[in-house]
Amino acid sequence: MTKTFKLSAFKSTVHIQSSLPSLNNIISELGGRVRGVLLICDENTINIAKNISLNGQVNICVIKAGETAKTWESVESILRSAKEAGIGRDGLFIGVGGGVISDIAAFAASVFMRGVNLVIISTTLLGMADASLGGKTGIDLFDIKNIAGTFYPASLIYMPISVLTTLPLREWKSGMAEIIKTLILNKTIYKKNTYECLISIKKAIFDNQTFLDNNHSSSRDNKPDDSLIKNISSLIKECVLYKGRITETDLYETKGKRALLNLGHTFGHALETSCGLGVITHGEAVAWGIVRSCELGVRLGITSIRQKDTITNCIELCGYETKKAHPLIKDNKTFINSLNNDKKKKSGNFNFIIPVKKGVEIINIKPEDMGLIENIIFGKTND
Ligand SMILES: NC(=O)c1ccc[n+]([C@@H]2O[C@H](COP(=O)([O-])OP(=O)(O)OC[C@H]3O[C@@H](n4cnc5c(N)ncnc54)[C@H](O)[C@@H]3O)[C@@H](O)[C@H]2O)c1
Repeated sequence: MTKTFKLSAFKSTVHIQSSLPSLNNIISELGGRVRGVLLICDENTINIAKNISLNGQVNICVIKAGETAKTWESVESILRSAKEAGIGRDGLFIGVGGGVISDIAAFAASVFMRGVNLVIISTTLLGMADASLGGKTGIDLFDIKNIAGTFYPASLIYMPISVLTTLPLREWKSGMAEIIKTLILNKTIYKKNTYECLISIKKAIFDNQTFLDNNHSSSRDNKPDDSLIKNISSLIKECVLYKGRITETDLYETKGKRALLNLGHTFGHALETSCGLGVITHGEAVAWGIVRSCELGVRLGITSIRQKDTITNCIELCGYETKKAHPLIKDNKTFINSLNNDKKKKSGNFNFIIPVKKGVEIINIKPEDMGLIENIIFGKTND
């Protein structure tokens, strides 16, 4: 699938395809006007980046893998590599990796020479389903997730499905959370064939992991079966079309539409931060946060028990922790402090996205109702 989205003054073209693009393809799609290329990858995705780097003829900047690399230092090392490589305003940054690489490569591209060409080659399920599209860039600072960032959509985003075969099991699981989030927003989660598709993915990925290679190696004897590729590709496509449509109407999250994509993120980000960034994956935190949002909705009388149960079942299918008082919360006060630092707070009130009959809704919770929120997070039993 190829689809171009118009994001305010930017255009992003997404290619969901089976294999990696070549550097020549990329440059010609950009109109050939590129002088100087910097590939940005991490210690694991360097194996993938090397496959498009024309035998080492382009500059590569390798960042540490994982959430703890979303720092100023990583951005600085990208900017330094670009300067040392003599890249100018007509240069090109290509981020090759998951959401961490796309967030920091895009941040660096947005500030280097006040903005250079940006291409993302997304290599994780989470990156394809969510992080690579929509122009949000970011780094973590002062122990707060994504507190510094810009809006800078990539011109081209490639999603080469074949690279997912080296993705570790935990990262497949992490990506499923953002997919389930979109299925809730889209309301397709309540359809029987969606549940069947999730069951088949669960069997292929989580029950029978023979094709997974946890050593990040690109050579393998076992390949995922065709039905898994077909199911995953169609879910990624659904996520891309949904997110593309929303961000086309509200790129800068000012019209109340894009904010809906944050379902599960207020609880999830607080969990991620309070556990120590990098301890729990983004998807694991979001999955737990979505279940908390359902429970809050039930308490407020706007989410039906049936809706909550359907969503929770789908999340549990992928093996996520869904219980309140998450076992990794060591200190309730630290969690509440993290929640209080949420970027989405407005005039001291929390904004939670809650699944409701017509899809999802933004609900404002005042600080004096914090008791209810604490019960949802730390209470003894799930509602
Ligand atoms: N900008 C956005 O709109 C947006 C949306 C959602 C999430 N995010 C961000 O995305 C980040 C999470 O992204 P992620 O889950 O992709 O994590 P990640 O980028 O850290 O990747 C997870 C791990 O998988 C490895 N990896 C990547 N591709 C691989 C492959 N094909 N084979 C083997 N190993 C591979 C990475 O090296 C890393 O160790 C978070 O920082 C989150 O805040 C951003």
